[in-house]
Amino acid sequence: MMQRETWATRIGFILAAVGSAVGLGNIWRFPFQTAENGGAAFLVVYIIAVLLIGIPAILAEFVIGRRSKQSAIGAFDALGRPRWRWVGAVGVLAGFWTLSYYSVVGGWVVRYAIGSVTGAYLGDPGTYFGAISAGPEAVAFHAVFMLVTIGIVAFGVESGIEMATKLMVPSIILLMLGLAVYAFTLSGSAAGYEYFLSPDFDALVANFESVIPAAVGQALFSLSLGYAVMITYASYIDRDENLGVDGLSIAITNTFVAVLAGLVVFPLLAAQGVDYGSEGPGAIFVTVPTAFADLPNLAARAIGFVFFFVVFIAALSSAISLLEVVTSHLVDSYDVDRKPIAVGLGVIIFVLGIPSAWDTAWLTWFDLVSVNLLLPVGVFGVVVFAGWILSADATDELGRGAPSLRGVAPVWLWSLRTIVLLAVLGTLVLSLGSLTAPPL
Ligand code: PFF
Repeated sequence: MMQRETWATRIGFILAAVGSAVGLGNIWRFPFQTAENGGAAFLVVYIIAVLLIGIPAILAEFVIGRRSKQSAIGAFDALGRPRWRWVGAVGVLAGFWTLSYYSVVGGWVVRYAIGSVTGAYLGDPGTYFGAISAGPEAVAFHAVFMLVTIGIVAFGVESGIEMATKLMVPSIILLMLGLAVYAFTLSGSAAGYEYFLSPDFDALVANFESVIPAAVGQALFSLSLGYAVMITYASYIDRDENLGVDGLSIAITNTFVAVLAGLVVFPLLAAQGVDYGSEGPGAIFVTVPTAFADLPNLAARAIGFVFFFVVFIAALSSAISLLEVVTSHLVDSYDVDRKPIAVGLGVIIFVLGIPSAWDTAWLTWFDLVSVNLLLPVGVFGVVVFAGWILSADATDELGRGAPSLRGVAPVWLWSLRTIVLLAVLGTLVLSLGSLTAPPL
């Protein structure tokens, strides 16, 4: 048996988990979901969902991972419940599936970072996006993004993922803060803050059956839950640390970056005078660059590059976690060297992503299946398993190394069994309703 890898430091684990959580979900998906679901009221529901469902659920994944010291599927065997392996299998499948299109969007971002330097999109961002988002060039940049992802995962937990995310996460936060300050200085940005920060609860009440599952789905996706990432990452913890502190730090940082993204994107859109709700997935690729195009040429290139560079590192630190779920499953199960595994899996995922790179209708459908089917099924499995099956072992594990958590652990277990379970079940049922057939 090869020695199983572990994180070198506690902060390394926290930053890797934050790196997974903070990604395209925060900067690309969150602003347009907010816009499509009524603005500030969506933000309120999103924050409640993080607190009430996200935090208990992330702790459930941590407990499964740290107690079993095994990756996604093997964790359930190691805990003596092989009949629950399907929960890990959903995670592995979701990792495969999600990375295939996530990497296509990552490829667009690489393209835009380069396009910022050359000024390529400044003339007409809309036409540029149409030209690069689908077809052979999108496939090529999808390949580039996958290659970088494979490169980091191949280096392993400590010298690949931990090293990379230690650099990436602080950079993301600093650069986003800088961009938010820049957005604040734009004339006409005030309406953006108004829209993002002052909730219209009447609209929420009128549309709650679509807004609530969208906000819960966004909260869970953003925390990387349901894909066994947090099980896998927690399985590399080799000491008893306070998982409550870790989980809270991760959830707070992740929410902070989502709010920062809103504080960058909405003022920028407001300064352009555009209608937020009509932007959809193209918002950060079309309207945000249009805002840059109004600046003097050199400033436009510089700000554009910083913006897309942050999105790129955020996307990359999430992509590596998706590839790690699948890689670590094979490394643990067959006791093999991770390098060829990471490369082989990366190539298969690249091929699976070709339809999404060829036609954005496929990308939208892959995202729909990921967020509306695989994610709620995965989270549901984790919550039932930790709450009802692992049960006393789960509270015991949460309290290990954390005397201050021992009093809270039963409340946590109770919430998993009731509120969290019902909320996730409700989300699952409502989400299934929005699934559609593939765009054949
Ligand atoms: N949390 C990531 C984001 O917000 O972009 C996306 C993600 C990564 C989801 C890893 C799930 C996952 F397992």
